[in-house]
Amino acid sequence: MGETLGTLEELPQDYRDDMARAGVAPLWPMMRNVLPHGSPQPKTRAGYWNYQAVRPLLIRAGELTPVEKAERRVLVLSDPGRGAGAMQATASIYLGLQLLLPGESAPAHVHTPSAVRIIVEGSGGYTVVDGEKLPMEEGDLVLTPGGEWHDHGHEGSAPVVWLDALDLPLFVYLEGSYATEGPLQAQRNRPDASQVEYLASGLAPTRRAGVGPRRYPMMRYPWVRTEAALREMLAYGGEGIAELDYINPETGADVLPTMGFTAMMLPEGGVHEPPLRSSSAAFHVIKGRGKTQINGELFEWGAKDTFTAPVFAEINHQADMESFLVRVHDRPLQDRLGYYEERAR
Ligand SMILES: [Fe+2]
Repeated sequence: MGETLGTLEELPQDYRDDMARAGVAPLWPMMRNVLPHGSPQPKTRAGYWNYQAVRPLLIRAGELTPVEKAERRVLVLSDPGRGAGAMQATASIYLGLQLLLPGESAPAHVHTPSAVRIIVEGSGGYTVVDGEKLPMEEGDLVLTPGGEWHDHGHEGSAPVVWLDALDLPLFVYLEGSYATEGPLQAQRNRPDASQVEYLASGLAPTRRAGVGPRRYPMMRYPWVRTEAALREMLAYGGEGIAELDYINPETGADVLPTMGFTAMMLPEGGVHEPPLRSSSAAFHVIKGRGKTQINGELFEWGAKDTFTAPVFAEINHQADMESFLVRVHDRPLQDRLGYYEERAR
């Protein structure tokens, strides 16, 4: 394989002009841009968002812009590699911090991308998905899969903030992203599936012949249960970290086709150096304090902060106190495309 390929400048001007007129271009001067050797060259750069710095801006958005004028009152977390205003935090993951004030509601809509909410602060907020009312308590993970109607409401007395993670960049790239508006949904008069059908892991409702489960049977993952499970895992595991993947309780598959979610617990003083992964990631700190080095760049984080890592990043986590994080990643999509990979450091 040749090391250096011919450049555009090496070609005669008349040939370049003729090519442009004919609507064609030579591949070889551009080939390394799209097929670099050995590993991808991500545009994404590691990012860090301090919640205490962003929170006042979000609260001010609540004063400046009524929810009716915003539909979704969100501050977008833009990838530093793409600059402010970029509608993505990594190549495939969009992140935004959303504010809902007491008494407000966000109108119902349905769209092609899937969304997941991780609740950052507040109490009394809820999301209705397909008629099911899903409470939003701190640390809960709530799914609104693509194609499912959803709206948000707030019965509490203080601001509710959550982190939205969407596979929006993928749908924008595919020119497949759009939404449809509708009236607020009627709510089924019962608790959500995590409290009814899937109260205990390993148990699912008995099926009648020919009646399958819903595609997304459980759309809320209460944090209290996740934390309790992580604590037991760490107490009896020997690797210095506990990790649990959020899965569909009926199939064991990832909760969404494109995005995956992994809850992590590090003990005080715990160090974690994962393999280099072909997936990009966002880390949201549920609670704790520590530091993470991503490709040599140091980020000191605390509760409710968020940081991101590009593909194949060298990541070193260190917890200064007992810490819980949720890792959002695109491994499920890469699995489907058949190229997910982990490399030794
Ligand atoms: Fe939405």
